[in-house]
Amino acid sequence: MYIRIRIGQEVEAQALNMASHVASLRGWHPALARAEIAALLPQAELLRLKSRRLVQLEGNITLEQMQAAVDCSSGCQALLWNAVVWSHEEDSTAFFQLIRTYLDTYPRSGTVAVRNMKHEGKMVGVSTQEYARSVGGILSSLGYSIDLESPEHRLGMVFDASAGIIACGWMVGLGDDSDGIVSRRATDRPFFKPVSLDPRLARLAVNVASGPGESGATLDLMTGTGGFVLEAALSNRETYGVDLDPLMIEGAQKNLDWAMPASDAKLLLGDATLLPEVIPIHAHHRIAGFVLDPPYGRNSQGSLDHAELIEAVLLSSREVASQNAGLVLILPMHPFGEFPDEALTDDAEFELLHGEWSEIESTFAKTGWRINNRWVEHVHASLGRLILHATIVPQD
Ligand SMILES: C[S@@+](CC[C@H](N)C(=O)[O-])C[C@H]1O[C@@H](n2cnc3c(N)ncnc32)[C@H](O)[C@@H]1O
Repeated sequence: MYIRIRIGQEVEAQALNMASHVASLRGWHPALARAEIAALLPQAELLRLKSRRLVQLEGNITLEQMQAAVDCSSGCQALLWNAVVWSHEEDSTAFFQLIRTYLDTYPRSGTVAVRNMKHEGKMVGVSTQEYARSVGGILSSLGYSIDLESPEHRLGMVFDASAGIIACGWMVGLGDDSDGIVSRRATDRPFFKPVSLDPRLARLAVNVASGPGESGATLDLMTGTGGFVLEAALSNRETYGVDLDPLMIEGAQKNLDWAMPASDAKLLLGDATLLPEVIPIHAHHRIAGFVLDPPYGRNSQGSLDHAELIEAVLLSSREVASQNAGLVLILPMHPFGEFPDEALTDDAEFELLHGEWSEIESTFAKTGWRINNRWVEHVHASLGRLILHATIVPQD
C-alpha cells in the first residue's frame, strides 16, 4: 500500500468546487491524520487545501468506503460529500446561493440538521450561528424537515480560521472533535503499565500500517498491555498480538475482555523473531499491517541489542506478510524543536533515545522494507516519538 499525498502542493480554495470530497481532520496531529485518511482510502488522491486540517480527496470513492474510513479513523472528524469550498469574503450572499445549488444538485430524503465545526480559532467577521441559521432556512425553504436531535443527514460546515475557508457538504461521520478515546483511556484499563500506548496514536498507527479493513489482518508484534490490539479489534479487524512475557499476554487479554468482551482477537505467547512458529498457519501471508512498539535496551531474552531485535523482527515479519504489507514502528526520541506539521524531510536531523537513526535506516533496507514517511509526535518537554511507516519491498 502506498500513501499518496501531494505534500507541499496546496490547492487554492475555489469559489465553487463540487467535484471533490473534503476530509475535516482533528487538531491533534493533522500530518498523521492525513496519512491515516490516505491509508484508509487508497483509491483517493489527497490534495492539501490551505488549511492543515482540510484535505481534498480526488478519485472514485463510494459512500460505503467513506463511511468505513470515518468509522475506524482516529484523526478524521468527518468527510464532506462533494463539498462546496468557499474562500470567505465579506459578502455571504453568493455563498448561500452556492449552498442552494449544492442542495439542488445533491438532494437527500429524510430529516436533516446543520452541524458547525470550527477550526483554528474564530473566523473574523463570521458568526457561525448566523450561517447555520441561514443554511437551516434554505433547507426549510427546500422542504426539508429539521431534526436537531437525531437527523438522518447532517449538512456539515467547517469554518477554518487559519485559511479563511468555509467547507460545506453532506457529512459522513458525526464531526466530533474528540474521537471518544476518553471512554477507553489506557489508565482506566484493568491492566496498565507506563509503556501503555495512547489509544489515539495506537488506532492511527494500526490504520496507517494496515489500510482499509478488508486488506488483511493486523499483527501487534510486541503487545505489552495490548494498546494496538485493542484498537485493531475495536475497528473489527482480524487481529493478532504476540508477546514473549506471559504476564503481558494475560494482562492484555484482561484489557481486551474489558474493552471488547466478544472479540475474536488472538493474543499469542511467543517470540516476534520467530513468527511462522507463533502465528496460526491460516494467517500466514495474510498479515497486511504490522505495528511495533519495541522495548528499550535489551529485550526480555537479553540476547539481542535494540537494532538487532528490530532486524530479527523485520525479517520474521516478511515471512508472514501479505504482498503489500505495511508497518508502523514507534521509537522514543529526544525532543525535536518545533512541532512539525508535515512528515520529516529526508535530511531532518534528530536523535533517537536508543541507538542511531542511521542504524535503523540500514536495518530496514537490508531486511526488505522501504521507509515511506516519518513523523514526530511531541510527548513532553524531554520526550518525543518518531513514527515511521514502511512497506514491504516485493521479492523477485
Ligand atoms: C514497549 S512494550 C509494548 C507496549 C505496548 N505497545 C502497550 O501498549 O502496552 C514492549 C513489549 O515487547 C515485549 N517483547 C520483548 N521482546 C520480545 C520478542 N522477542 N517477541 C515478542 N515480544 C517481545 C516485552 O515483553 C514488552 O511487553
